[in-house]
Amino acid sequence: MSEKQELAIVVGFYNYADLQSLERFLEGSGIVILSAAQDAQRVFDDAVNLEADAALLCPQVSGYRPQMIMDLLLHVDRPVPVVGWVEATSDDGRAMMAHGAKGFVTLPMDAHQGNKAVQLLRQAVEEAARERRAGEVKARPVPSSRLQAWQERVITVWVPKGGGSTRTTLAVNLAVALSHASLGNQPTCLLDFDMAKGDAHTMLGFTANVKHAERHGWPLLERGLFDLVVGLASRWAQGGENIITPVLLRNYTVRWDDDSQLDLLPGLYFPHQADAEEFRNRQMVYQMGRRVIEVMRQMYAFVVIDIGQDFTRPLHRAALEAANEVLVTVPPTWTAVVDAANAMQPLRHYFGDLSRFKLVVTRYSSDFGLSEKEIVGEVGLPKLVTIPHDAVVAETAINSHMPFVLTDEGPLGEAVRELVATYLPYLVQKRKRGLGLLSGLKRALVRES
Ligand SMILES: Nc1ncnc2c1ncn2[C@@H]1O[C@H](COP(=O)(O)OP(=O)(O)OP(=O)(O)O)[C@@H](O)[C@H]1O
Ligand SMILES: [Mg+2]
Repeated sequence: MSEKQELAIVVGFYNYADLQSLERFLEGSGIVILSAAQDAQRVFDDAVNLEADAALLCPQVSGYRPQMIMDLLLHVDRPVPVVGWVEATSDDGRAMMAHGAKGFVTLPMDAHQGNKAVQLLRQAVEEAARERRAGEVKARPVPSSRLQAWQERVITVWVPKGGGSTRTTLAVNLAVALSHASLGNQPTCLLDFDMAKGDAHTMLGFTANVKHAERHGWPLLERGLFDLVVGLASRWAQGGENIITPVLLRNYTVRWDDDSQLDLLPGLYFPHQADAEEFRNRQMVYQMGRRVIEVMRQMYAFVVIDIGQDFTRPLHRAALEAANEVLVTVPPTWTAVVDAANAMQPLRHYFGDLSRFKLVVTRYSSDFGLSEKEIVGEVGLPKLVTIPHDAVVAETAINSHMPFVLTDEGPLGEAVRELVATYLPYLVQKRKRGLGLLSGLKRALVRES
């Protein structure tokens, strides 16, 4: 017992007096403080550069961002687990754990909290090392005292009809609503698995085209699904699916915006990419898809997947099989309704029981001459929500790179928020507050631009 390994930590503190009492409690514990700072970036840099084993972090330090916790835990060189150091009366500890912290101690420091800090830091280091060896990571949000329980989910948005079936629109708005601080505030990953062409990144304002980046000032993407598949393919024969780890996947995702916990795996930028040799090995691509989803499921509370129409293509099939729920988006046109209805029998053949498949009537207006009742009757899946037709709101949102779920107070935004509330029951309360929520949000958006 006395031969416990010495641990080196970095500390982010708010009150100097707290730091002093911490030092007293750590004396003789085998834990040494390498650096202490009141600035989050300093803590982060020191943790990496000084090769700390762990960080004790007070979220009140300036520049604190919750994503730091995961960034440290998944750091390529070595994991640096974070233990929170929070006010006893706050909800910060739970919030930090929701972002991957390994536990928390509360202020003010007393002997009990001092002992707990020693114990938690040691456990955190062991757990992070174990996770890194196993190639997994745990960032399961714990239901906080302020939030009600929610259910972690993989949600695939799909419909067999092509072009304009609003799959991508729904996937993007759903992912943004689940993750944005003003709404769901859950760690969420959007996977663009459309094997014909990806455009979720364009809706979110990114580009893979250097000219567009220069001309419009849009953030340029460096990597995405194509690079992931091609990179994996070269090593697949040796390593198989075990080479897909959280650390690896982190290199291919991009954070959408600081006010959301949304990471995007950008899809195929250019149409010819789907024809690359690597994509022709269907079995390999299917296995890659399954494994990527499983690893992402460990890293995020929600994984939303956008796919193309053909359910036999390997990434589409992987997404449909792995999903806890498949949202089938059907607009009120007979071609779409008939395509969806005709797909039910083959779907049963491929995927068995269809209880995971739910209908979303989309782009709906009774003016188009087809009733909701007819659509539901024909497709035969239970309907979760109807999203009304509003071309102005939908197209403006795409052109301004701002998903309408964050800005539209009308029926379109409301319908998607209603859908999101089925996954996060606490949003029902937020939605009731309605206007207040969105006016607060608009201030946030103005501040950003
Ligand atoms: N509720 C709505 N009302 C009217 N138009 C909408 C609505 N939702 C989306 N749209 C419009 O429908 C068009 C197609 O949407 P989207 O790209 O999401 O479809 P998709 O099914 O992903 O198509 P693709 O085959 O390209 O993958 C977009 O121009 C979008 O603005
Ligand atoms: Mg699409």
